[in-house]
Order: sequence, then C-alpha cells, then structure tokens
Amino acid sequence: MFPTETVYGLGADAENIEAVRKVYSIKGRPLSHPVILHLPKVDDLAYWASDIPDEAYKLADIFWPGPLTLVLKKSSNVPDIVTGGQNTVGIRCPSHPVAQEILIAFAKSKNHKKGALAAPSANMFGKISPTCSSHVYNEFNKEYLKEIFVVDGGVSNIGIESTIIDLSGIREGKKASVLRPGHITEMNIAKIIELESKDLSSNSIVVSGSLKSHYATITPLTVIDDTFFSKNLSVFAQKVDRLAVLYYGDKPINVEENIDLYYMSSDPIIYARHLYAMLRKIDSKKYSRIFVKDLPFLAEWDAIRDRLYKAAAGFN
Ligand code: TXA
Ligand code: MG
Repeated sequence: MFPTETVYGLGADAENIEAVRKVYSIKGRPLSHPVILHLPKVDDLAYWASDIPDEAYKLADIFWPGPLTLVLKKSSNVPDIVTGGQNTVGIRCPSHPVAQEILIAFAKSKNHKKGALAAPSANMFGKISPTCSSHVYNEFNKEYLKEIFVVDGGVSNIGIESTIIDLSGIREGKKASVLRPGHITEMNIAKIIELESKDLSSNSIVVSGSLKSHYATITPLTVIDDTFFSKNLSVFAQKVDRLAVLYYGDKPINVEENIDLYYMSSDPIIYARHLYAMLRKIDSKKYSRIFVKDLPFLAEWDAIRDRLYKAAAGFN
C-alpha cells in the first residue's frame, strides 16, 4: 500500500498476473473491474498505451504528475487482468513524493525500465477510500496485513480519487469524456481539449466508481436538501436513536440531544481533503444514521457530490 495525493493505493507489479490477481482478491473486487496503472513519468506512456492521441500528451503536460487518469487503448504489454478484459487501460502519474520515489525505483527495477504498479484504492470494494495509513490498517483483515507492506506518506492532500477521462475513442472521432469527476474539473480539462459533456449514468464502460452505490459508509447515509436541513432536523432526530450530522456554513439551530454535529469547510478543496476521514470517524461511532447537508450546486463541488450521492444510493 502506498500513499498518493488522492487516496492510498494497493499496488502490484502490473506485469505480474498473480500479484494483480491477489489485489483483486484482497479487495473483494470483481475481476471485470479494471485497475489503474501508475507510472512515474509520461515518457513511459507509449509502453503501456497504443494509438495515443495528442490530447493525452496535452493533458499530461499540464496535469501530470497529478490527480488525472487517462483512459487510452491498451498496448500488448498490459495483461488482461489489469483491464478487466477491456481493450482500454486507465493510466495516471501521481504527484505524491513518496509515490514518485516508489514508482521511479520500481520502473528501474525492470529490464525494460518501464515498470508500473497496477493499483486500486486500498479499501474493500465499494467502501470509502483511505486517505492515511491508519485507514489502511483498519480496513483489512489481519491475515492480509501480514503480507502487505504499508508505506506511510501522511495524509493525502486531495482526499478524493482522481478525475478519470476517456480518450480511447478520439482516434475514431469520439470526443473525450469525463468518467469520474475529481479535483481536476471538467472546466479545467475543457480549457485544454474538446470535451463531450456526458451523463455519467449512461456510461457503458465499466467504472466501478460509477456504480450507483459506491464509496459507502457502514452507517446509513442520507443527503439532505438545504431547506429541509435547517427546518426539519429535529423532526428527523425523533425517528432515530443517534444521529450524526455533517454540515458546512451556518451551524444548525435547535439541535436535539441525540444529534451530534460535525463541521465541514465551505471550501470544496478542504471539504474533499477531510471528507473520507470524517466519514470513517463517524462510522466508528455507531450512529443510527448520518445526515449530510447537500452541497452548493457549483462545478467545484461536483466530485464531492458524486461521492456523497453514491455513498447514499445504497441506502435509498
Ligand atoms: O486516485 C485514484 O485514481 C486512486 C489512486 C490510488 O490512484 N485509485 C483509484 O482506483 O481510485 P480504483 O480502482 O479505486 O478506481 C479506479 C477506477 C475504477 O472505477 C475503474 O473502473 C476505473 O478507474 N477504470 C480503470 N481502468 C479503466 C478503463 N480502462 N476504462 C474505464 N474505467 C477504468
Ligand atoms: Mg476505489
């Protein structure tokens, strides 16, 4: 397990099929869900991807190393287990200094000098991604932890998973599209390349983060509309034993005794950085329910809203 600026990853040599298979089994992840390849630098891209469009290099030039994953046609060097049998591969180059050090050393250790780590987020399938090493220790069965080496790189600065952009159809005339929103927004990307604005739910490619119920807490979580939120908190509180409430902005008034309030930043960058740690903390306290105040309908909140709505979806 290694730190990245987004979330911690559970890495395996991308060319070692058994090692990648083990990553799937530790996570409890279905084999049809592809994992992202992590490279130290853009120079190695052509070893792992084929038919690379100029758009990939334009984006890499600006956003790599950083929290952006490019989906491209895979090269013959990518084993099928990494891509879940698809002919495309997700690739990113993380900026975290510890991730960089590990990836540089790993790439060099291979004869071809272009080694990469296949790494999903280091959590059980469908659960919240880890943003520090203690999350990783708490996530997995002790038996597995004996075999896994956890590298501590502090708290992940961004706190939510990378933006994923599909560039695999560009050569056939399809526009690029965002498959998973993230810290790098559609607007940031649209300034560099042409982008199709697409309904995420109509996506035919398998992106596990696009399953409706994902990033889930153990405690049932509901996102509450702003107007309801301030007026009806005590009405909701009567129906449950203990309620955790995640809010930003003005502190709710008339709060019942069985409600605990958790304050979040009104800045989306800071909100995202602390979100998963906060949800894990609340989850450990065994509340009957978590209420989250809905977020501003502004582009910079899209990625956080995506994660919270998907966390809530399994409980609807
Ligand atoms: O920030 C991140 O991306 C983190 C860190 C560790 O790099 N990784 C991460 O991995 O979030 P994971 O496996 O939890 O999520 C990767 C997502 C999945 O939803 C997967 O379906 C999608 O990327 N993905 C991977 N390869 C793909 C491909 N070829 N086509 C479409 N989606 C792909
Ligand atoms: Mg994940």
